[in-house]
Amino acid sequence: MSAPTSRSCRAWGTAIQSDEPSFQRSQDSRLLILAPVGRDADLLKSLAEANGIAAVALPDAPSLAEAIKGGVGAVAITEEALYLPNSQALAHAVSSQPSWSDIPFVVLTSRVGADVRMKTTMDLVKSLPNATLVERPVRPVTILATLEAALRDRRRQYEVRDTLEALRQSEGALRALNADLEERVAERTEKLQAAVRELEGFTYSVSHDMRAPLRAMVGHSKILVEDFSDQIPEEGRDGLRRISAAASKMALLVEDLLKFARLGRREVVRQPVDLGELVHEVVKDVREEEACEVDLSVGKDLVVQADRELVRMVLHNLIHNACKYRSRTRPLRLEFGSAPEGGETALYLRDNGIGFDMQYGGKLFQPFERLHRDAEYPGTGIGLANVKRIVERHGGRVWAEGAVDEGATFWFTLG
Ligand SMILES: Nc1ncnc2c1ncn2[C@@H]1O[C@H](COP(=O)(O)OP(=O)(O)OP(=O)(O)O)[C@@H](O)[C@H]1O
Ligand SMILES: [Mg+2]
Repeated sequence: MSAPTSRSCRAWGTAIQSDEPSFQRSQDSRLLILAPVGRDADLLKSLAEANGIAAVALPDAPSLAEAIKGGVGAVAITEEALYLPNSQALAHAVSSQPSWSDIPFVVLTSRVGADVRMKTTMDLVKSLPNATLVERPVRPVTILATLEAALRDRRRQYEVRDTLEALRQSEGALRALNADLEERVAERTEKLQAAVRELEGFTYSVSHDMRAPLRAMVGHSKILVEDFSDQIPEEGRDGLRRISAAASKMALLVEDLLKFARLGRREVVRQPVDLGELVHEVVKDVREEEACEVDLSVGKDLVVQADRELVRMVLHNLIHNACKYRSRTRPLRLEFGSAPEGGETALYLRDNGIGFDMQYGGKLFQPFERLHRDAEYPGTGIGLANVKRIVERHGGRVWAEGAVDEGATFWFTLG
């Protein structure tokens, strides 16, 4: 090993100025020395100290192991130290370093040869994960340059350690921030849910309490028309009939509103449901209710995990609408199936009915919003709001596509 030429050094103990920044923790920059034979320990220590390196000489392997735990910049050992008894503690200290640490060892050996002892020495050196071998006789400048390279190596390890520590700290701060944010979101969600529950409770009780006076209005106007019609002029009778019809319609709206409110409270119980089978069942019912002929085609593999009763209501509303809003000029054709949609499976019901203007597509799912005239297509406008509520209770979403006189397609997912 040759000495670096850029630095001049006359003998052991000649000072070389170091312009490297100092270590963050004073213990961390120590050179630990283990050289049990002769004056090597003293010579190494004074060479290091004369060049601004704090050095500690240890008498045996266990005390070196103990000193390593207190902080170490590099270790200088002589070949003889490798043969010391009780070196397990040292082996343990070396093998239990943290992941960022790889303590540099500088090992002074006798001349490298091919004898048996040399082979053993090499094996022992190899057991140190980060060792530099310096062959004797050695010039002070060589050993000093090697020690400084080892300390520089260690300094880089500390930089890695500090970066990791800073990262861990900011990670911790981020986690705390996230936890705080989550807590605040949960708090606000809870408040919002409480407000929604209160509002729903209010709607429910108002609708509930309106039923009795409405029934009274319908009943009394009927009695007036039936029992006192000869005493009321025709114009008055017509007025009474209108009052009765309006009260009946209002009673219907209130009933629908009550059903809608109940849907929000009902628990969703999931089970495997064969939607293909269910569609056939519902179409059969609607055919009878509406006297509507349907040419139905149903896709394959339509088993989902859902609340059977609630999903039946969805299908009933959609199929009932398809019958109600069918074309007068062509027989109703219905197609039910599934298609991939953004990583999940969406289900659809397509009809060839009167369709609707896509401009108002978003309104369809709001309670009491209707796109077709009551006289021609009677209804309260709550069906699709119920569909939306059920689908959302399943964690899914619903949307519609259509064009006037070209049919409509209703899509939904079930979470
Ligand atoms: N298949 C369809 N084709 C065309 N328009 C439709 C279809 N289904 C729904 N619509 C439109 O969406 C509106 C809302 O539908 P929704 O089912 O909520 O109410 P409704 O059918 O009018 O009354 P009900 O509460 O009795 O169901 C309808 O009034 C109609 O204008
Ligand atoms: Mg409807």
